[in-house]
Amino acid sequence: MSALNLYWPFHKAFKRPMGFIHQWMILSAFLGVIFPHQSNSQSPNASATDARSLDALLQDYAYRGLVHPRTGVPYDGVAPSNLTGIKIAALRLKSGSLYKRGVEGYKEFRLPPGVFVQPYVERLVLVYQNLGNWSSFYYPLPGYTYLTPVLGLLAYDAANLSATNLPELDLVAAQLPVSVGFSHVNPVPSGSIAKCVWFDLEGSADFRVMETRNNCLTFRQGHFSIVVNSSEVSSSPDHPIHAGSKSSKSKIWRVVGWIVEGVVVFVILAVIVALMRRHKKNQKLAQMEQFADAQVSLQRIRVGNAQLPVASEMRTQPVLENDLVP
Ligand SMILES: *[C@@H]1O[C@H](CO)[C@@H](O)[C@H](O)[C@H]1NC(C)=O
Ligand SMILES: *[C@@H]1O[C@H](CO)[C@@H](O)[C@H](O)[C@H]1NC(C)=O
Ligand SMILES: *[C@@H]1O[C@H](CO)[C@@H](O)[C@H](O)[C@H]1NC(C)=O
Repeated sequence: MSALNLYWPFHKAFKRPMGFIHQWMILSAFLGVIFPHQSNSQSPNASATDARSLDALLQDYAYRGLVHPRTGVPYDGVAPSNLTGIKIAALRLKSGSLYKRGVEGYKEFRLPPGVFVQPYVERLVLVYQNLGNWSSFYYPLPGYTYLTPVLGLLAYDAANLSATNLPELDLVAAQLPVSVGFSHVNPVPSGSIAKCVWFDLEGSADFRVMETRNNCLTFRQGHFSIVVNSSEVSSSPDHPIHAGSKSSKSKIWRVVGWIVEGVVVFVILAVIVALMRRHKKNQKLAQMEQFADAQVSLQRIRVGNAQLPVASEMRTQPVLENDLVP
């Protein structure tokens, strides 16, 4: 956006004999158009969609670890190199076996009998995610501090192990809940209460009371962690999971935002100064005209009906000067 573009509506306004108020109204309307746009560009709110595209990416990479897989055996995958710190795995199962027997241990998850997926597929893959130090980047939770990495468990159709962009199946624990036993939980600050948090696939967070010190229960798939209110952990602000959640990229964008804002404010100030000068000039002109009109009417009153150009003679009063001489 250039200064010229900003200036142009006013350029037009200047050409017309417009009152200051009228010009000010146009300027205000223009500011209203600029500033909401500004604030939007400064707070990108795309983390829910970012998390969804991460799910799709990790499904692809987890499936790559399934080369001639044996049913019921978890295979660790390798996350893309730009996401170092994230751990993934894939476990292929028969739907019937999952429902009848459950899965005793799949990383931190334990699935009891009675778990099924909708729509029905013969074989499914359970993709496991451990987001590590990327947890608060993909699942920002203002006001809370993570005590564990965010873990994900998502179900997909196993019919085609080369498929990408697969939709998740709906996973339901019909009898007993799935248990998430976090292997390492940061110490809970004294006096505060840790809570389980569950993010559904739309990214909305749901808080639950914890079962035991490191255990959360769920009847659905999604992403899971343990949190405490951030205000209760003010003594340790440099929590490893919370630190560095905002990249240098967002810093650059913030600086660019400041610069753009600075330019816009400068241009607007320049326009306001120009408008005020213009207004003053117009006011002066109007005053001079008024003054001239007053003079003319004054002359008319004094001269009466005679239309004579005798103004200059009337203005000087030589009689007064003579009176002052003793
Ligand atoms: C990481 O790389 C993959 C391709 O390997 C790309 O699709 C993805 O957007 C990248 N993610 C980030 C956060 O840069
Ligand atoms: C997580 O740690 C890895 C190195 O172990 C680093 O490359 C990556 O940038 C970190 N991610 C975040 C979000 O800080
Ligand atoms: C499996 O998915 C891949 C990638 O989408 C596709 O190219 C391939 O044709 C699919 N195979 C079958 C048997 O559907």
